[in-house]
Amino acid sequence: MAASFATHHVLFLVWFLSVTFSLSFFFFKAESISSVSCSKKDKQALLTLKRGLTDHGRVLSSWSDHKDCCMWDGVFCDNKTGRVTELHLNYPMRLGGEISGSLIQLEHLNYLNLSYNDFNCTPIPSFLGSMYSLTHLDLSGANFCGIIPHQLGNLSSLRYLSLGNNSELYVDNLRWMSGLSAIQYLELSDADLHKEVDWLQIMSKFPSLSELYLFNCQLDSLNPSLGFVNFTSLRVLDLSKNHFNHEIPNWFSNLSTSLLELKLYNSSLKGNIPPSIFNLEKLEYLSLCFNKLTEQIPEPLGQLKHLTYLDLGINSLNGPIPSSFGNLSRMRILCLNQNQLNGTIPNSLWLLSELETLYVGKNSLTGTVDEGHFQKLSKLKHLYMSKTRLFLNVNSNWDPPFQLDYASMSSIKIGPKFPSWLQSQRSLSFLDMSMSGISGKAPGWFWNWTSNITVINLSNNNIESDVSDIFLSSTVRVLNIANNSFYGPISTFLCQKKIRKNKLEVLDASNNLLSGELSHCWKYWQSLIHLNLGSNNLVGRIPYSMGALVNLHSLRLQNNSIYGDIPSSLKKCSNLSLIDMGDNHLSIIPLWIGEMTNLIVLRLRSSEFKGYIPQQICQLSSLRVLDLANNSLSGSIPNCLKNISAMALPDSNVNSFYSMPYTCLYIYVSYVENVQLVTKGEEMEYKENLQLVRLIDLSSNNLSGSIPAEISDLSKLRFLNLSRNHLMGKIPKKIGSMKELESVDLSRNHLSGEIPPSMSNMTFLSLLDLSYNNLSGRIPSSTQLQSFDAQSYIGNPQLCGDPLPKGCTSEEQSLNRSPIGSVEDDSKNSSFYIGMGVGFATGFWAICGALFFNRTWRHAYFRFADEIKDWIYVIAMRKMNLLEKLRVRLSK
Ligand SMILES: *[C@@H]1O[C@H](CO)[C@@H](O)[C@H](O)[C@H]1NC(C)=O
Ligand SMILES: *[C@@H]1O[C@H](CO)[C@@H](O)[C@H](O)[C@H]1NC(C)=O
Ligand SMILES: *[C@@H]1O[C@H](CO)[C@@H](O)[C@H](O)[C@H]1NC(C)=O
Ligand SMILES: *[C@@H]1O[C@H](CO)[C@@H](O)[C@H](O)[C@H]1NC(C)=O
Ligand SMILES: *[C@@H]1O[C@H](CO)[C@@H](O)[C@H](O)[C@H]1NC(C)=O
Ligand SMILES: *[C@@H]1O[C@H](CO)[C@@H](O)[C@H](O)[C@H]1NC(C)=O
Ligand SMILES: *[C@@H]1O[C@H](CO)[C@@H](O)[C@H](O)[C@H]1NC(C)=O
Ligand SMILES: *[C@@H]1O[C@H](CO)[C@@H](O)[C@H](O)[C@H]1NC(C)=O
Ligand SMILES: *[C@@H]1O[C@H](CO)[C@@H](O)[C@H](O)[C@H]1NC(C)=O
Repeated sequence: MAASFATHHVLFLVWFLSVTFSLSFFFFKAESISSVSCSKKDKQALLTLKRGLTDHGRVLSSWSDHKDCCMWDGVFCDNKTGRVTELHLNYPMRLGGEISGSLIQLEHLNYLNLSYNDFNCTPIPSFLGSMYSLTHLDLSGANFCGIIPHQLGNLSSLRYLSLGNNSELYVDNLRWMSGLSAIQYLELSDADLHKEVDWLQIMSKFPSLSELYLFNCQLDSLNPSLGFVNFTSLRVLDLSKNHFNHEIPNWFSNLSTSLLELKLYNSSLKGNIPPSIFNLEKLEYLSLCFNKLTEQIPEPLGQLKHLTYLDLGINSLNGPIPSSFGNLSRMRILCLNQNQLNGTIPNSLWLLSELETLYVGKNSLTGTVDEGHFQKLSKLKHLYMSKTRLFLNVNSNWDPPFQLDYASMSSIKIGPKFPSWLQSQRSLSFLDMSMSGISGKAPGWFWNWTSNITVINLSNNNIESDVSDIFLSSTVRVLNIANNSFYGPISTFLCQKKIRKNKLEVLDASNNLLSGELSHCWKYWQSLIHLNLGSNNLVGRIPYSMGALVNLHSLRLQNNSIYGDIPSSLKKCSNLSLIDMGDNHLSIIPLWIGEMTNLIVLRLRSSEFKGYIPQQICQLSSLRVLDLANNSLSGSIPNCLKNISAMALPDSNVNSFYSMPYTCLYIYVSYVENVQLVTKGEEMEYKENLQLVRLIDLSSNNLSGSIPAEISDLSKLRFLNLSRNHLMGKIPKKIGSMKELESVDLSRNHLSGEIPPSMSNMTFLSLLDLSYNNLSGRIPSSTQLQSFDAQSYIGNPQLCGDPLPKGCTSEEQSLNRSPIGSVEDDSKNSSFYIGMGVGFATGFWAICGALFFNRTWRHAYFRFADEIKDWIYVIAMRKMNLLEKLRVRLSK
């Protein structure tokens, strides 16, 4: 939902722009009707073309035999000769089918636009290469597939060629391109060009090339060894989203004296920002965002005085922000976020009076920012300073010179007083002042504030307010007041007459002092997608009326004093993917839970559930977290768990990210679910990395019977805890086929038999507890199983072998029976080994964990996987896109 919301915004923009474009185009046409009628030959050619095309929208209905073809929609003629010169068959026409070879008859055609149709993954017709009069050919986004025909190289008059956004085009080489001697605009984005290693030499030979777009072309080298590359008249170069994996080459210094825009984001560039960049002295737009650039930002970058847009965000740059940035007086958009920059923000930076966007968040910047600093920044609209060590120290009567649209100031010091200057911000739509040390009461004006606010995040402060004071205008979509001291009966908030028209989609009021029953006013909150009321003092039953929340993706009522049944009305909330009702006083797990097939996380721990675990739980094929621990559940473990395919099968989706433009401007995350899960014996908070968890925890219940053998089919499971039950029988023989298990706790049951040798195959295991069962025989020997402490095995009197002190044969027995005096040595020794084992395991996971986390976190910010869309609620920026004419992409 969140994903599609953002997507819709993007599509809306594309649509809006195209509609504006085509409307103005039709207007123009109406005024320039000529008296010369169209050539018969061209008319026949067009009628043949029409027959081959599929036209579900009947946009070609004006193309009829009895009308002058120069009057047909999308057709333009020369007003003297009547020959067809232009064909505008682009979006929003939505054509498909076959492009007839009759097109060649249009000998005077110089403009052909077929973009944004759907030609169903057919190849680009090679006869287009015989249409020698073409000057403009646009085949972008038209779903063409296959090899780009070499014949296109015959179009020596072509000035504009776009084949972009066709996802499956490729080339075997680009030598044929040298024939495009007139080319000015060349767009091959999304085509796979990796087979042509000399692409750079070929493209730099075009004498008139002015714009070159090679976004996402699978290019893997910028050929740093080349001494000299000179694109004579290049103005725009986009090489973003490739994987270069090397430094920015020196030849950039000769690239083109006319270069205005250079886009190199998300291209795995390494090393520092080299001096070669400083030579591009006309540069207005530079994006090096989301690479692996290191070292300091070079001071001479401040020489590029034409820069209006500079994006160095999401790299590993360190050191200070250069004070030379003060020379960049035209700068409108400056993004330095997510680096390791330190020191204070240089005073010169605050003099950039054209600045509209300043992103410095997620750095180690220090120092105090006061009202004096902002004096010149009257055009500032977007300010991102979150997660720095800055202190915003302004007077309570400060009247800022700017009107912000976006203010992200999380985890910096703002409080303790509530920032009253906000009251002056009339167009603010995003406010994040979480974790900023604000305490005391939120002033009355705050809730009545008549701005266009969409996102309010005041979480993790110490705001003490009566919950009935909260007022929500219908523009608010996200209200996050978690971890504060809001108090009062929750019904006084939920049932207020004045907020019945709310459009809230995210409400997180967890960890406050809210009291009373859940009320019957849920029908006024039907827009809710994420609801978290956990860790308050709520009482009573879950009301039937909560079934009205049909849009909910997550419902979290954990850690309250709610009792009774889970009402069947919740079945209607069929989008639910996360249910957390742990730490309450509930009764039985309803059978209809099996119908909630979108569930990914079901957390019902410590909530006094009785009765059986229903077999229906196995119908939850998307489930990744099943936490029923610490209840009074009895009976056996359902023997159908293997049907939970999300735990059994590899994740097919894991790489299917929507990729958004990697610029700091584009999109921001406004809410991320976090769930407390007990993994490896400790409670941990999972946020974006929740998508990696596969967990079953049924510990501390009264479960009996044996562990179903088929549990070992859950080959993607990472955490398994069945401890503290009455389970009997053997440990499933094939348990080792759950190779991803990191933690296995089967302790304090009545399991018997030997430890299956397959367990020695579980190479990721870092916690193992089999203690206090009736296991017997020798502990299988493997570096894995012996790396655990004896504690993992104790309480099984018939178990023997390393690491237990008890040997298995009488020989070993006597070997191991150490004299009292050397006990200390022995234990030192074993703890050394334990240390090694655990050290290896945690060390390994620390690295991979960090990588995983980093990757998902980055993706969460700029891309979001299908599967995590439920955890992450994203809102795309509204105004900026238009402002920046960003090239919007949504590719697979
Ligand atoms: C014919 O086209 C030319 C150039 O496109 C234009 O200047 C001229 O006004 C047009 N004549 C008529 C009669 O529309
Ligand atoms: C072709 O049409 C698309 C969609 O309307 C438009 O964005 C593009 O600029 C057009 N191409 C040319 C060369 O005019
Ligand atoms: C057009 O291009 C193809 C392939 O590059 C070539 O074989 C052919 O000779 C060219 N035709 C003409 C008329 O130039
Ligand atoms: C690149 O080529 C153009 C035209 O050939 C020339 O004017 C310019 O000086 C060259 N640039 C460099 C850095 O040599
Ligand atoms: C900034 O970080 C660098 C190391 O990355 C360190 O050498 C320098 O002292 C730091 N400067 C400040 C002002 O903290
Ligand atoms: C609020 O948003 C609407 C629509 O986006 C806009 O027309 C209006 O000017 C905005 N109001 C303010 C105070 O910015
Ligand atoms: C806020 O608005 C409500 C209803 O519109 C009104 O009753 C209340 O007095 C206002 N409070 C403040 C502090 O302006
Ligand atoms: C460990 O895994 C390998 C290959 O996956 C398999 O051949 C072997 O039998 C397994 N070992 C045990 C003891 O199950
Ligand atoms: C790319 O093409 C697809 C399919 O035609 C379309 O849905 C998408 O909007 C296009 N993206 C851009 C950025 O034009």
